[in-house]
Amino acid sequence: MSNQIPVEKLKKIQTPFYFYDIELLKKTAQAAIIEAEKFGYEIHYAIKANSNRKILQILSEAGFGADCVSANEIVRAVECGFNPKHIAYAGVGKTDREINTALDLEIFTFNCESLPEIENINILAARKNKIADMAIRINPNVDAHTHEYVTTGMEENKFGISEWQFSEIVEKIKSLTSINLISLHFHIGSQIEDMKVFETLCKRVNEIQKTFELFGIKLPHLNIGGGLGIDYKNPDSSSVADFKSYFEIFNKNLNLYSGQKLHFELGRSIVAQCGSLITQVVYVKNGRQKSFVITDGGMNDLIRPALYHAYHKIENLTSAKAEKSYDIVGPICESSDCFAKNEMINETQRGDILAIRSAGAYGEVMASQYNLRELPKAYYSDEI
Ligand code: LLP
Repeated sequence: MSNQIPVEKLKKIQTPFYFYDIELLKKTAQAAIIEAEKFGYEIHYAIKANSNRKILQILSEAGFGADCVSANEIVRAVECGFNPKHIAYAGVGKTDREINTALDLEIFTFNCESLPEIENINILAARKNKIADMAIRINPNVDAHTHEYVTTGMEENKFGISEWQFSEIVEKIKSLTSINLISLHFHIGSQIEDMKVFETLCKRVNEIQKTFELFGIKLPHLNIGGGLGIDYKNPDSSSVADFKSYFEIFNKNLNLYSGQKLHFELGRSIVAQCGSLITQVVYVKNGRQKSFVITDGGMNDLIRPALYHAYHKIENLTSAKAEKSYDIVGPICESSDCFAKNEMINETQRGDILAIRSAGAYGEVMASQYNLRELPKAYYSDEI
């Protein structure tokens, strides 16, 4: 059983809710920052993974920049202490209102995903008499070997600009006077566990930088995105991701220009392991072939298992009995409302408290009110 979860205190709180281990969050943040600083790299925390204000305040204090995908995220980041000069802004569908907000706040870069977007930012910046710093988001056609819904760097994905479009884009950018190209941006996917994928990405980035040199372009920044995976099976023994090996791959394989700054946009690896969804067993229903544990938390609280068949380790915090196999399901009227099939947990009865682990990333942020349920609340280890 996890020693980081204070069961007696959590028992008193109305379930379901998110519980965040703040000590682990700070330890993870510090490890990432220390390993990145060894090489002079900058990490922009990907706000989309968890935009909870308390978590953002801790991460801005720890020294992260921010990676945002909407104007609301940019505003939230600034409210929580992130410096706009360290905010990168990606997304294929930035609206005029959102671009104007980002222009007013004078963010670090617009990571641009298409020619019409670049033209539009140029127009909106000109109206404000500003010059927008931008990166071209490149689709490097590298397979991230991860779930198809979180793969973004293949030509069939909607993200980024492909190699065959480079010369047209470069010509266009040279003719526009209210944008300033400062960086190339890459992000090929999420929950990447095979570190070789990052080596392949480095090789592609080296080739692409060479291509840009042929256009006479050498840029001061390079943004490699995020995607470092975490160990969903062993949240306690692998509570902090291996940032050291991760950054070393880039140091070893990427050919940066002298003075060129490398940026990262890590989300999951910073916040996933510090969060758990805490839920109570409402009923145990014994079928002929299976036993179902029915919890008060559902897919509206944590959608990752239903949406991606994602695995989250589940622990029974209130039983010390021998393990049994269960399907652990929520109360929502959908068969996909299932957290785990054939999961071994301590024998369970009505009223037990379960922890669905590694839920700090893409958990609370993706919660909905489906079935008119309450949004889950958040509690923190240093406040309860
Ligand atoms: N940068 C960009 C441009 C991104 O699109 C993403 C994630 C990140 C950085 C951060 O990636 P990370 O380090 O967290 O892997 N909801 C899915 C994950 C979607 C990821 C979207 N983009 C899930 O629950 O697995």
